[in-house]
Amino acid sequence: MSGEQKGQIMIRTGILTVSDRGYLGEYRDLSGPAIREIVVGQLGARVEQEAVVPDERNVIAGTLVAWADEAGLELILTTGGTGFAPRDVTPEATRDVISREAPGLAEAMRAASLAITPHAMLSRAVAGIRGATLIVNLPGSPKAVRENLETILPALPHAIELLRGGKGGDEHPDAR
Ligand code: MTE
Repeated sequence: MSGEQKGQIMIRTGILTVSDRGYLGEYRDLSGPAIREIVVGQLGARVEQEAVVPDERNVIAGTLVAWADEAGLELILTTGGTGFAPRDVTPEATRDVISREAPGLAEAMRAASLAITPHAMLSRAVAGIRGATLIVNLPGSPKAVRENLETILPALPHAIELLRGGKGGDEHPDAR
């Protein structure tokens, strides 16, 4: 279920799981559903696209472009492929398609995650903007997905409002 709840904006969202093994059906994707549960339950998001793709830079980038430019999604959350393994190319694919980086989101996730595990240093996750679409990389495990997503969740509605071109709330200087 999805939809607008009191005090929330409805965010058109896509969830992209990046995993060779998930793509081949060798294991069940639990991270995509973990993202869905959080964004629908806590953000009132509407999940319009969901897919599992292999760790192939051009496939990841192509999916991000299609979801941003053709499907017109406002928020795309990826999971997986942000570490140091040779096949981990999600950050590179994301950089291929964004025009503006949003480093604060990735910095906040790494900072909060460092309090939980030193392995947070191994996440190369990127966040950035393509047109009016915000793209955020999350790590691959369901546990890491929850911990990282919950860190940035409070800032996402304001981020999307700003991308929509609105004033984005009372704190904005123009609203004074
Ligand atoms: N962040 C949090 N909050 N919790 C975690 O368990 N795992 C880390 C890190 N970030 C983790 C985390 C690990 S072990 C790795 S290798 C990197 O994210 C990258 O994960 P990925 O390769 O699955 O994308």
